[in-house]
Amino acid sequence: MCGIVGYVGARTATPILIEGLKRLEYRGYDSAGVATLDGDQLAIRRASGKIGRLEAALAAAPAAGSQGIAHTRWATHGPPTERNAHPHLSQDGTIAVVHNGIIENAPLLRQELQARGYVFQSDTDTEVLAHLIEVAYAGRLEAAVIEALWQVEGTYGIAVVSSREPGTIVAARKGSPLLVGLGQGEHFVASDASAILSHTRDVVYLDDGDVAVVTRDGYRVVDLEASQRDKDVSRIDWDVQQIERGGYPHFMLKEIFEQPATVQNTMRGRLILEEGFTKLGGLNIPKDDLLAVDNIIITACGTSWHSALIGEMMIEELCRIPVEVEYASEFRYRNPIVTPRTLCIVISQSGETADTLAAMREAKRRGARTLGLVNVVGSTIAREDDGGIYLHAGPEIGVASTKAFTSQVVALALFTLKLARLRDLSVERGRQIAQALADLPAQIQSILDRADEVEALAEEFKRASNFLYLGRGYNFPAALEGALKLKEISYIHAEGYPAAEMKHGPIALIDELMPVVCLAPHDAVFDKVVSNVQEVKARKGRVIAITTRDEPALRGVVDHEFRIPETVDLLTPVLASIPLQLLAYHIAVKRGCNVDQPRNLAKSVTVE
Ligand code: AGP
Repeated sequence: MCGIVGYVGARTATPILIEGLKRLEYRGYDSAGVATLDGDQLAIRRASGKIGRLEAALAAAPAAGSQGIAHTRWATHGPPTERNAHPHLSQDGTIAVVHNGIIENAPLLRQELQARGYVFQSDTDTEVLAHLIEVAYAGRLEAAVIEALWQVEGTYGIAVVSSREPGTIVAARKGSPLLVGLGQGEHFVASDASAILSHTRDVVYLDDGDVAVVTRDGYRVVDLEASQRDKDVSRIDWDVQQIERGGYPHFMLKEIFEQPATVQNTMRGRLILEEGFTKLGGLNIPKDDLLAVDNIIITACGTSWHSALIGEMMIEELCRIPVEVEYASEFRYRNPIVTPRTLCIVISQSGETADTLAAMREAKRRGARTLGLVNVVGSTIAREDDGGIYLHAGPEIGVASTKAFTSQVVALALFTLKLARLRDLSVERGRQIAQALADLPAQIQSILDRADEVEALAEEFKRASNFLYLGRGYNFPAALEGALKLKEISYIHAEGYPAAEMKHGPIALIDELMPVVCLAPHDAVFDKVVSNVQEVKARKGRVIAITTRDEPALRGVVDHEFRIPETVDLLTPVLASIPLQLLAYHIAVKRGCNVDQPRNLAKSVTVE
């Protein structure tokens, strides 16, 4: 996630800006930069990689001045290079902008600006803003920023300075957090209070549509009509660590609760509801080549392999193309069948998993076209694939993958819908799936609003030594994922199984000490799952059912029931995984485990 820091006061700005950026390191980033104003001299220093490289650049060429803005970038548009690092400059070099968020209509605005002779120096959507503000500037930075913001669609948290108005920072927010920090003879702007906590605990949180004009002696807030907005001053009583987790006790819980927003971000600008279609700009596969694909391999590891299994079912059901899902570690060493008409989808949150990277390279060597579903922009897999779909889920800090998994399933659904509608899926069915996707964020939120019900379940089952997770169809991979979540953070042995497969061995494990989580949405195989539940109960097993309706067939049969909203079958795993993430999280916490950094595990397995 990108970070913003701004300062205007009597002290030298650079040390304050760098300290603030370091406080934002936890959010994940891949490049950083500062812009300072010394009188009317605007200095820019940027570097890819860690903040230490930016510090080196500043040591080599100090940036003076008691005003400045700074940014850590988590790339969304354009690779993490110095040229794409913020701040971005207007063409006349007088205006510098740092930006969090996504400007959805940036490509169109870029074309219009280029037609007017503006030459772009970066691949970013942010640079569009810098030029729009220059175009609008007519003596007041505040007014120019407002006029520019009227033209953008999407989300932003920005800070802007200009050598034509030393002593002023203009900040604005829509969909990306931003606040003003209040000091004595100095003021701050930040995307996160942790960046300025060492200087002040008095802040004004900006709301969507706010524009703040900040000087060393004060600030004022207006709306996009330039009307004054009165804002409350808040006193921060958190410590830095609490702030980094947004007030949550662990990154994993924060990321679980981010999922309404992250699933929304994965779909942002990509869903065409009225056509039941999707717009995926990064596929880089000509339509005819995409239609020529006659077999698909999906390769991944861990949680990403679970989303691959869901993708397999989606593509085969809706596109009628055979799909093979392969553990990357297996694929790379066996002699797989790959043809020039093979599409190899590579799923990886980190984009750096060694086995997955090797499997992709092997598929490419054998002539397959590769498509990466990756979260980390500019990661190795994202750079080496032939095309891709970025998840836009923001940095996932907790080792146990949660928001990346739901975004992977959504990205697979977006790809499947596009391919199916290019083939023979009807517009009606396409609209139904598109609408179901659009409904997901609110449905996820409705589940999160009942998280305390899951915590109560965790209290009852925290001492179990073994768990069994059962599901059918799309919910079999969801069962596997639920089991993986539990075992990797609570160290309880847990297995996921196709519900019917239980009779072929695992049923021997069932007794009154064995909790069985059963995914039982009201779908075509619901009655079969009920039979499996009864088999478990006949052997004194304790059943937690994840259902979508008040089911008479389960009433009085299961020991616990957690209801999730109904959606189309292929998206049920997105909703079913939320209570399973929470169950694993709360059991692990109650067992005193290190939830964010479980023993023996790494966030990205970059070794074989
Ligand atoms: C999932 O919770 C684990 N952290 C692990 O299985 C992970 O999914 C796997 O290592 C793959 O990582 P990737 O998606 O970054 O490639």
